[in-house]
Amino acid sequence: MRKEELVQLIGSLTTEEKVGQLIQLTGNFFDAEDTVMETGPLKKIGFNEETFDLYSTGSLLNVVEPKNIYEIQKKYLAKTKHNIPLLFMADVIYGYKTIFPIPIAQTCSWNFDLIEKAAKVMAKECYDSGIHVTFAPMVDIVRDIRWGRVLESPGEDPILAREYAKSMTKGIQGDESILPQDHLAACVKHFAAYGAPIAGKEYNGVELSEEALHNVYLPSYQAAIDAGSKLVMTAFNTLNGIPCTGNKWLNQEILREEFQFPGVLISDYAAIEELKVHGYTENDLESAKMAIENTVDIDMKTSVYANHLPALANENPEIMKLLDDSVLRVLELKNDLGLFEDPYRGLDPLDFSKGERLTTQHRQTSLQLAEESVVLLKNEQVLPLKKAEKVAVIGPYGEEKATIGFWAITGDTKDTVSLLEGLKQLADEGIVLPAFAKGCNILPASEVDQYDKYSQSIDIDTHSEESLLEEAIKVASNADTIVLALGESTYQSGEGGSRTTPCLPKNQVKLLKALKKLGKKIILIVYAGRPLLLDEIVWDVAAILYAWFPGTMSGQALANILYGKANPCAKLSMTFPRSVGQLPIYYNSGSTGRPVQASNPKHRFASRYLDEDNSPLYCFGYGQSYTEFAYGKVELDKESMDENGTITASVTVKNTGSYAGKEIVQLYLQDTAASVVRPVKELKDFQKVILDSGEEKTLQFKITEQQLRFYSPKEGWISESGAFNLFIGKDSEDNQQQGRFYLIKN
Ligand code: BGC
Repeated sequence: MRKEELVQLIGSLTTEEKVGQLIQLTGNFFDAEDTVMETGPLKKIGFNEETFDLYSTGSLLNVVEPKNIYEIQKKYLAKTKHNIPLLFMADVIYGYKTIFPIPIAQTCSWNFDLIEKAAKVMAKECYDSGIHVTFAPMVDIVRDIRWGRVLESPGEDPILAREYAKSMTKGIQGDESILPQDHLAACVKHFAAYGAPIAGKEYNGVELSEEALHNVYLPSYQAAIDAGSKLVMTAFNTLNGIPCTGNKWLNQEILREEFQFPGVLISDYAAIEELKVHGYTENDLESAKMAIENTVDIDMKTSVYANHLPALANENPEIMKLLDDSVLRVLELKNDLGLFEDPYRGLDPLDFSKGERLTTQHRQTSLQLAEESVVLLKNEQVLPLKKAEKVAVIGPYGEEKATIGFWAITGDTKDTVSLLEGLKQLADEGIVLPAFAKGCNILPASEVDQYDKYSQSIDIDTHSEESLLEEAIKVASNADTIVLALGESTYQSGEGGSRTTPCLPKNQVKLLKALKKLGKKIILIVYAGRPLLLDEIVWDVAAILYAWFPGTMSGQALANILYGKANPCAKLSMTFPRSVGQLPIYYNSGSTGRPVQASNPKHRFASRYLDEDNSPLYCFGYGQSYTEFAYGKVELDKESMDENGTITASVTVKNTGSYAGKEIVQLYLQDTAASVVRPVKELKDFQKVILDSGEEKTLQFKITEQQLRFYSPKEGWISESGAFNLFIGKDSEDNQQQGRFYLIKN
């Protein structure tokens, strides 16, 4: 339809029907059973059945099975008055049926072409299943491992988050503005700074300076918007005292004006209603007014708009205008999806199973991304394993198939490859198949009831803890090498998964300590939704593979890595602290006036702790490989540049080990003096190179004035004349190859 036709259509709607377009409900209102995830308040949501016509609802949330989508749409169109189809939106965050590694793992690959390819697979599977909008990408920067949604985040760095935002949006939507076949609309979230709740506590307030917001937190949302994201979701949290959903500065000045976002702004789950709960509005009427004035187009899962917006709009022409604008944005989205022409977009009513899901190719992409996301944190020359080695796999994750993480709500753990299954697939290649013992449950039985409605889904072995441990010791005693598969429970991370002490469950640590006494090599695999505190166990093991939740192909990816069929190449997108007291800890922290001096590290009056190092356990950008890479000297083609100039930094990287491998070469800059103190280091660029054993390549990085800019609350985005230190290396602590150059502005 043309825009004029949409405007005409809006003209034919009653005020209530207009408001209906802004209402989002779950499938149970339409008698569908597959509402796969409910995260909102546990109460009836209070629609007035006399005034609210269910068949004016604009969109549904988390109905994800093709048959349900088809049947609801059909029933809806038969009863609705204006033939405006329903929009189906869902949380498909890192895979529909083929599940990819969790986002924090994906960004450890630093392979954004591959991430885009994975997002395309996800889009295709959604398209073939009739879904129109996915609530992805989530691009909230996070610096505190206590927060459970680290799992869904791209990590702590604005450049990686920006690349993630772009590649996901392009993969989901395709490159055109009218959403092409095999794609769906993206919804970037949670606007803004939802990843920075105070003390890592879910839904807590966020306090951030304007400087931090602009330099660190906002660029990833903007990147998704620039890549064309059709929707933005507001965040639950307050930002400097104002709830994001009712935040004029954020939604009007930043989102609509500065970022020029033309699309649909949807509230997070019940966030409009929560304006009152926050203590920001007196009542729902005020919340409705506040949200519409902030151009929040869709009210997710509350009755606030339905109960209050019609009267507000009828009484006030300005609000009627805002309502019309919102409805137009929603209808434009439906139009961009081609729903007026084909409300059953992507579906084949004759065969709902038709379409590409979990195909060999899709699994292959998931496998590749998993192999590139697993981080080798430690290796005392024990990996890769030799085929003839007598291995015992011990630990509750050995045969566990729930390795897709909390937010893969459309995935089925039955489809995943467990570690043992992955190892069995290598039998043809002559590996000696491992013995196995579980050793313990993922969580101690005594802690299960903390997990509320999920406690019933947590399996507890009927054997006693002692007998599980005894058996593990027996099995491990007969092996040369122990592969120990431990990890957080799926239910310990994700939304509502904040933890004060994110470490391995204590029964698993007990298992590890008991195995340690056998004096054998232990190779630890850790499954987790966040960086865990590893300080207590890192010294007990000879190698650590940090698997995160690797998705459908988990076991195969890990088996390939264990036996050297794949060489680990991932590097951390988030810092691993030594202890909780260091939080928040991140590599790009501001310079202090009293840094610790290498010559006098114990000096009392320096910025440090008395009882802990300043350094993390593993820094941002860190990750090992089975091979070694040597960096040559950094060369700069010039010493200085002006505003329009560039400087090229070159470095030669050589694979000096005996395996082919991929190295992520990282370029960091430090602005040595600025009108707002800059971080000690900031990632500005990176390249992932493939090098055969013995091969070397010279890499070039072009530095432009734009990369030297920062946001100053007084002047906006600026660069300033002066000296910049440059570091090219293997991680954020690698200061061996340095250079220095000047920006000279007139
Ligand atoms: C989450 C969102 C999600 C929404 C819909 C909320 O609780 O914060 O990320 O998209 O629910 O399920």
